[in-house]
Amino acid sequence: MKSKWHVWRDRRGRLSPLRVATLALLLLPLAKALLDANDIVQGARPLNDLIHRAGFWTLVFLGVTLAVTPFRRVARYGNLIDVRRMLGVGTFVYAVAHLSLFVADQGYDLSKVVHEITHRVYLIVGAVAWLGLAALTATSTDAMIKRLGGLRWRRLHQAIYVIALLALIHYFQQTKADVTVPVFVAGLFTWLIGYRVLVWWQGRGELSTLSLLALSVVVALLTFAGEAIGIGIAFHVSPLRVLDTVFDVDAGIRPGWQVLAAGLCVVAIDFVRARWGRLRPVAAE
Ligand code: HEM
Repeated sequence: MKSKWHVWRDRRGRLSPLRVATLALLLLPLAKALLDANDIVQGARPLNDLIHRAGFWTLVFLGVTLAVTPFRRVARYGNLIDVRRMLGVGTFVYAVAHLSLFVADQGYDLSKVVHEITHRVYLIVGAVAWLGLAALTATSTDAMIKRLGGLRWRRLHQAIYVIALLALIHYFQQTKADVTVPVFVAGLFTWLIGYRVLVWWQGRGELSTLSLLALSVVVALLTFAGEAIGIGIAFHVSPLRVLDTVFDVDAGIRPGWQVLAAGLCVVAIDFVRARWGRLRPVAAE
């Protein structure tokens, strides 16, 4: 029988290339931090640097976990479901590292940690998201799924959308100046949630290429609008003036374009896979 620690093996105990690749992906930020070790140690606040890295990767892996369902349908790659739990648990491991580094930064003084968290809104938001991730991880075992029953388990795990929203709010609240990356990340999350809303609304398991295109365009427009309104409020300027810079490459490629590019990649994958899927039986005849 396969040991539960042999995460690189599938349920039948065979070595799974997909699991090995997922494990490598999850270890990538760690490898990057080791490569950057010199810069981190010589930086002004090494622990704070690590807190930021761990927080950022928690959010990224949360997004990757949420991307499994749409991507396995778009890419017609059903096996991807086999690594969803691994990605979810990996996300929580980074969240644990993020909080542990914060505790270390407070000199391991737990009363100071509690005081800090309860006196700063962005930390309260982060802490609620953290507890949510902990609850979902704790209920991710086969035994817990069986105990809760499929329907209740699925309902409980829908909390992931609220957790993602809280994590994004936490991210925005602690961002000091440039909101380009947070807006881009928020755009990607909006696409992932929008995909589910569309699936639910259309009452079908998968979306047509045209629906994916429409979703990508709408989410890109929302990203442009969200960024313009956010900057408008923060810097007391008209959002329309911000929107004027959308085609100005010197001002940097706006997150809306980046979200559109990511959406169009998904559309292209769907287009190719839909054709390939249809052509395959014909070729076999
Ligand atoms: C008790 C729980 C948490 C605490 C105490 C905490 C604390 C912090 C702190 C101190 C920072 C740096 C702020 C600064 O330097 O001004 C930060 C940044 C961040 N945190 Fe958290 N956090 C928590 C939970 C989470 C969770 C659950 C997520 C994601 C799911 C998350 C994602 C982030 C991100 C994305 C950043 C910014 C990273 C960057 O600069 O690129 N945090 N957090």
